[in-house]
Amino acid sequence: MNRLKLNDGRLIPSVGFGTYKATKEEGIAAVKNALQKGYRLLDTAAIYKNEEEVGQGIRESGVAREDIFVTTKVWRENMGYEETKKALAISLEKLGLDYIDLYLIHWPANYKNFGANWQKVNAETWRAMEELQAQGKIKSIGVSNFWEEHLEALLETAKVVPAINQIEFHPGYWQPDLKAYCEKKHILIEAWSPLARGKVFENEVLIAIAEKYNKLISQVCLRWCFQHNTIAIPKSNTEERIIANLDIFDFELSIEEMNQINNLPQMGFSGEVPNEWPDYVNR
Ligand SMILES: NC(=O)c1ccc[n+]([C@@H]2O[C@H](COP(=O)([O-])OP(=O)(O)OC[C@H]3O[C@@H](n4cnc5c(N)ncnc54)[C@H](OP(=O)(O)O)[C@@H]3O)[C@@H](O)[C@H]2O)c1
Repeated sequence: MNRLKLNDGRLIPSVGFGTYKATKEEGIAAVKNALQKGYRLLDTAAIYKNEEEVGQGIRESGVAREDIFVTTKVWRENMGYEETKKALAISLEKLGLDYIDLYLIHWPANYKNFGANWQKVNAETWRAMEELQAQGKIKSIGVSNFWEEHLEALLETAKVVPAINQIEFHPGYWQPDLKAYCEKKHILIEAWSPLARGKVFENEVLIAIAEKYNKLISQVCLRWCFQHNTIAIPKSNTEERIIANLDIFDFELSIEEMNQINNLPQMGFSGEVPNEWPDYVNR
């Protein structure tokens, strides 16, 4: 498995397995299957309500704990210094683990949900995460859905620079300015919904590139993420797709093809805006 280096020196697999909506028996089977097919990075979150299933899938897979990079996230209703410490303890308990590889602030506190107090809420959440990292309960810490303004405010008091910013990133919506800002700060981008939840598969540019390399459109999307130096975390409950989504290392997009995909008009956007409560209008 290809790996990227985080700003704290640790390595993270460049393709991971998303688990949003992977719940109950299906969730356990998907996680177990993904690990047995070679995935070594798992992405869950307290709000996905499947940490127990992810933990069960890990145990049933037979893959050693230390070989798996487990990510979970603190939900915005549990932000703040004490609340974050409690939230991590609950996540560890549900997962059945004694440490997390990567813990993320799932959504930034912002003016709309926390009023004028928003910077402090992010800062206090982060302070708790820094302490939990120093105690070894979390190996790496990061954020998700943070725009430049949220990062700028966080960096005013942060002792540790976030290792990751997990954002919506796929052909048709890839936030290039935010990516460039994060690169300047040595924050790696992790791409959520790297397949745009299937909403870009009709695009003719992607279809033509996929045909040229005899690959799937999904593989072109994931290869494009990889060549952007981002970590993609596609989700699938389907065995053949789970296998296909890892099979992206035997071809290379040209600079022209990368640019063609970069320049696609907006499509597949989830409608989820970090400065708002999630807005599901486009689903
Ligand atoms: N931080 C955040 O706020 C945030 C937000 C959204 C997502 N995420 C994370 O990112 C992960 C991935 O995002 P996502 O689940 O929203 O969307 P996604 O990975 O872009 O797309 C998942 C959808 O695509 C289908 N699919 C998967 N592989 C395919 C393939 N090879 N060919 C055709 N269809 C395929 C899946 O169907 P089947 O399952 O039926 O195969 C599923 O319906 C999530 O699971 C979650 O871990 C994070």
